[in-house]
Amino acid sequence: MSFASSWLALREPADVAARDRGLLSALSDWVDGRSLPATDLGCGTGSTVRAVAPYARSLDWTLVDNDVALLEEAAARTGARTRPLDLAAAPEAAVEGARLVTASALFDLVSADWLGRFVQALAPDAAVYAALNYDGREAWSPAPPHEAQALAAFHRHQAGDKGFGPSLGPQAGATLAAMLAQRGWKVRVADSAWRLGAGERPLIRALAEGSAEAVAATGALVGRRLADWRAGRRAATAVEIGHLDLLALPPEG
Ligand SMILES: C[S@@+](CC[C@H](N)C(=O)[O-])C[C@H]1O[C@@H](n2cnc3c(N)ncnc32)[C@H](O)[C@@H]1O
Repeated sequence: MSFASSWLALREPADVAARDRGLLSALSDWVDGRSLPATDLGCGTGSTVRAVAPYARSLDWTLVDNDVALLEEAAARTGARTRPLDLAAAPEAAVEGARLVTASALFDLVSADWLGRFVQALAPDAAVYAALNYDGREAWSPAPPHEAQALAAFHRHQAGDKGFGPSLGPQAGATLAAMLAQRGWKVRVADSAWRLGAGERPLIRALAEGSAEAVAATGALVGRRLADWRAGRRAATAVEIGHLDLLALPPEG
């Protein structure tokens, strides 16, 4: 699945505003100025590095993605080492040697099997910071017609295969939290919903178009009903999209 640099740029300010500051501060305390090897999975253009930097400047980053153009931009904008890798095939190789593993807006693409392999592959002294995991909550105001039916269809589309097997979609954050807690990590989760208003009209419209494409692909809404719902979403003036941030500190170290 590919992601345009322009889409990542459009969402980054909303992501920065939504990230839970308490978890970033706790991560900062854990890093404690150490020059630890940190790996960001599905790095895109490097937004996680930019978001974490004010809290932990000492980290030695490796940025992983399978999109070479995004990796080039990430390298230019962050100065970090980059590594082209298909995460779907190799979660174990991706996290090898990392004391901190991060990912933003990635885990809703992965399957439960893949997530299990990822958790098993973590070193017992590695922390995990996984931000902006879509959790399924959406509130569009004024409410578009057919919204409940469309959102249910969108969630069905989210469960499709994005290259990692059947996707966890909105279940990803809670599933990751449960898997890490079961293996002894100290897990904290926090709300990181986007709360978008009049200042974020371009992002609202892009979200409306992206979700309309997904819902159209399911066939749940067609013709006039699809057009009316899409127009209602495009015209929304207040939008809340639920996300969950997670910080898991390791059993050792
Ligand atoms: C929603 S974007 C998030 C990008 C970035 N973390 C951010 O928050 O701006 C998902 C990222 O995962 C990457 N990705 C998707 N499937 C991948 C795969 N199989 N292997 C490596 N990276 C992948 C995409 O190229 C994209 O950069």
